[in-house]
Amino acid sequence: MANVVVVGAQWGDEGKGKLVDWLSERADVIARFQGGHNAGHTLVIGGQVYKLNALPSGVVRGGKLSVIGNGVVLDPWHLVNEIAKIREQGVEISPETLMIAENTPLILPFHGELDRAREEAASKGTKIGTTGRGIGPAYEDKVGRRCVRVADLADEATLIARVDRALQHHDPLRKGLGIEPIDRTALIEKLKEIAPQILPFAAPVWKVLTEKRKAGKRILFEGAQGALLDIDFGTYPFVTSSNVIAGQAATGVGLGPNAVDYVLGIVKAYTTRVGEGPFPTELDDETGNRLGTRGHEFGTVTGRKRRCGWFDAALVRQTAATSGMKGIALTKLDVLDGFETLKICTGYELDGEVVDYLPTAAEAQARCTPVYEELEGWSESTEGARSWAELPAAAIKYVRRIEELIDCPVALLSTSPERDDTILVTDPFAD
Ligand code: GDP
Ligand code: IMO
Ligand code: MG
Repeated sequence: MANVVVVGAQWGDEGKGKLVDWLSERADVIARFQGGHNAGHTLVIGGQVYKLNALPSGVVRGGKLSVIGNGVVLDPWHLVNEIAKIREQGVEISPETLMIAENTPLILPFHGELDRAREEAASKGTKIGTTGRGIGPAYEDKVGRRCVRVADLADEATLIARVDRALQHHDPLRKGLGIEPIDRTALIEKLKEIAPQILPFAAPVWKVLTEKRKAGKRILFEGAQGALLDIDFGTYPFVTSSNVIAGQAATGVGLGPNAVDYVLGIVKAYTTRVGEGPFPTELDDETGNRLGTRGHEFGTVTGRKRRCGWFDAALVRQTAATSGMKGIALTKLDVLDGFETLKICTGYELDGEVVDYLPTAAEAQARCTPVYEELEGWSESTEGARSWAELPAAAIKYVRRIEELIDCPVALLSTSPERDDTILVTDPFAD
């Protein structure tokens, strides 16, 4: 009985939401294990569009248990709004279908304020281009042992003590940035007000999941962001503040590493990135614009235009290794329809030598130029293809070359935003 981890293999927005929704039919539990409402996952089911940030993408299917694990940072006000919006679309959400780990750290309003103030104050070259949603500051407080966690909402005295501990750190910091001190009374009141809307979902997730495993239930771990935004293995410091790679799945819900059987990387057939930071295959030209227009590459969270470029096999080979991917789901192949030729980056030229991975040092990264190989494009449409036989030979060649270069096979292929426009090659749950 396999448990599957879905992880983004590039800089996010690879189509994780669509794939998690598709795979959730085969799972009993869908669990988020890191990130927060910086994630934006779009699901299209029978023409209906669902946009999710903090809620696991399994909620839409119904009859499944969705879990927000301790590895996530949670904005309780955002969650309550998101639940209300998704309920309006006819999705049922109750404590039977949604559980939040009691030890999940909360994102409080001053985290977002700090995130945005730092970005505004940043000079050129140091701005990260965050979503401004307080993700970084909330994770800092978690590691700094001054977070308010979900369980703290249940007891007023504890809640006040936790808030005071956080304020002791944040007020001097805000003063330095020219922001007024936090209104302590208003914040405590706000937290007391939201508590009854969050606490019914609070549960010892580690224990619930342990019992589910014993009962033979299948867990689908849903990653947010992408492995190149990982705090350790991403393009630091232009990264998010959590471990994104698959190893985090177990820690982020409170299970041991043997809970993970199959790691599925979600890989876009080209490359995109939102925010600042290195992007070796970026195309700042007509071809880049064409990818962005055909792929509707605008961020769901901030509405920003995503930067676009050719497929970078060197980077995906790297993330396939750091997440231990057993297979990939290749998405948005249809966006490449009609390109005469396509390029794939296979490595980088650095000081006259070819290297097969992106070096860690920023100054070395800046001196890297991509080494490309060119492949023939196809003029036929692959949009909505539901079988391998519907794909033009050149498209199959492109997919096969990607498999070879990243040293990982294609398990699924996605050919449109719609749930059912998906080709299954190998079932990750059965493998
Ligand atoms: P996530 O953050 O990884 O869940 O990805 P997003 O939802 O932010 O971005 C992926 C976008 O591509 C969404 O708008 C999806 O509806 C869309 N999408 C997913 N798979 C495909 C595909 O195979 N083809 C096309 N054209 N669009 C897709
Ligand atoms: P999904 O789950 C794409 C990027 C931001 C910024 C950097 C740090 O939809 O793939 P943060 O607010 O996390 O401190 O911002 O990370 N980023 C994402 N980019 N998709 C995401 O999520 C992202 N979540 C964060 O744009 O560059
Ligand atoms: Mg997204």
